[in-house]
Amino acid sequence: MDTIHIRGGRPLNGTIEISGAKNAALPLLTAALLTEGTLRLSNVPNLTDVRTMGRLLAELGVRIEREQGPDGEVLALTTPEITSTLAPYEIVSQIRATFWVLGPLLARVGHAKVSLPGGCAIGARPVDLYLKGLEAMGAEIELSEGYVIASAPNGLKGTVIRSPMVSVGATHVLLMAATLADGVTVLENAAREPEIGDVARCLVAMGAKIEGIGSSTLTITGVKKLHGATHRVISDRIEAGTYAMAAAMTGGNVLLSGAEADTFASALDLLEEAGVGVEVVNEGVRITRNGHRLKATSVATEVYPGFPTDLQAQFMSLMTLADGDSEITETIFENRFMHVQELARFGADISLHGDKAMVHGVERLTGAPVMASDLRASAALIIAGLASSGETVVNRVYHLDRGFERMEVKLSACGADIWREKA
Ligand code: EPZ
Repeated sequence: MDTIHIRGGRPLNGTIEISGAKNAALPLLTAALLTEGTLRLSNVPNLTDVRTMGRLLAELGVRIEREQGPDGEVLALTTPEITSTLAPYEIVSQIRATFWVLGPLLARVGHAKVSLPGGCAIGARPVDLYLKGLEAMGAEIELSEGYVIASAPNGLKGTVIRSPMVSVGATHVLLMAATLADGVTVLENAAREPEIGDVARCLVAMGAKIEGIGSSTLTITGVKKLHGATHRVISDRIEAGTYAMAAAMTGGNVLLSGAEADTFASALDLLEEAGVGVEVVNEGVRITRNGHRLKATSVATEVYPGFPTDLQAQFMSLMTLADGDSEITETIFENRFMHVQELARFGADISLHGDKAMVHGVERLTGAPVMASDLRASAALIIAGLASSGETVVNRVYHLDRGFERMEVKLSACGADIWREKA
């Protein structure tokens, strides 16, 4: 297994190009199942999660070709017919978003057999909201031997679905299912994450009728067929936020090129509160910090537009060196604090109390061998390593490669002493 090595203590200076958003690209790829036409996606990040999704889609009948567009590489996805409706355990257990093929498969061919999902070990992560929503649209659902077997022999029917809690995945699945359903579907208490808006805009370009994009009520009028379209994936707000925290922690001056400030405004506000320089410029967002110690700042994760759970670990890393005590509350996932014990190896002072982590800022961190436990936690360890004296070795970096494109390359271009050792 590859390892990432860091000799910390150097400020970051330069430009980091922000990639396309993983969490928009994954559902966008599944939209190819909804039409025989060709869906062309640009700005798709080159990540293992994207390749895993590609492998599943190919098994279901999607032809994937790479083309050269004016704007870089384009993935052209064409699904003349669905050749299989089985999403097997071997794939779905690796990344949770592959479970989301359930929506488009049911919508296009009226049946699907999809393994219950896996993904990062950050909580129980049930799928009851997806299944209740599809049942409300007339699907029959059976659970058997770890699989969801769903059928809608008479097609899906539009209805009003009020979700008792906000779920990104359930919103993606029900939105796609509704595009081809008979009649009007209203999704109340829908997720408002920018990735949902991005998918909805792509579906509209494919001929779907969707109102309320960007709000918590989506109204979808089903159409008979969707067609091909061309769409550029939005920039990755979590990657941008991660590098913002890295620059804040090491000090320096970094331009996050292509970052869309309004998609991670809560994180930028928090950084400003902590004493980080944030400037929105034409090309993206500039992050600066010169020398002085950051102020300890408290935060609770929330659904969008609140502070994202996917930046909680990275912010905790930052707060380990702040002046004072910060309280970090995780409200979305019940087990997303596995980075705490790894941050302690650097000398961080953190105690856990249920869904709260109390971080007492220390003067300095020292490099250590550490182990990545999940995708965003890996990034938090890298950030800590960049700001520590001595050498850090991050093990199990396959977690990192699921969601960050060439992280060590992007960081070393800004002056970090970081490299990958191949296993
Ligand atoms: C998406 O996961 C993201 N994944 C996650 O990013 C992100 O952390 C999460 O949304 C929250 O923003 C992708 O976009 C691929 P949810 P998802 O359904 O859809 C509970 C990363 O690091 N819930 O919004 O799985 C659930 O247990 C990943 O890139 C139910 O109870 O998240 C959780 O507590 C990790 N029943 C809460 O809702 C359900 O049926 C929010 O989960 C569904 C969800």
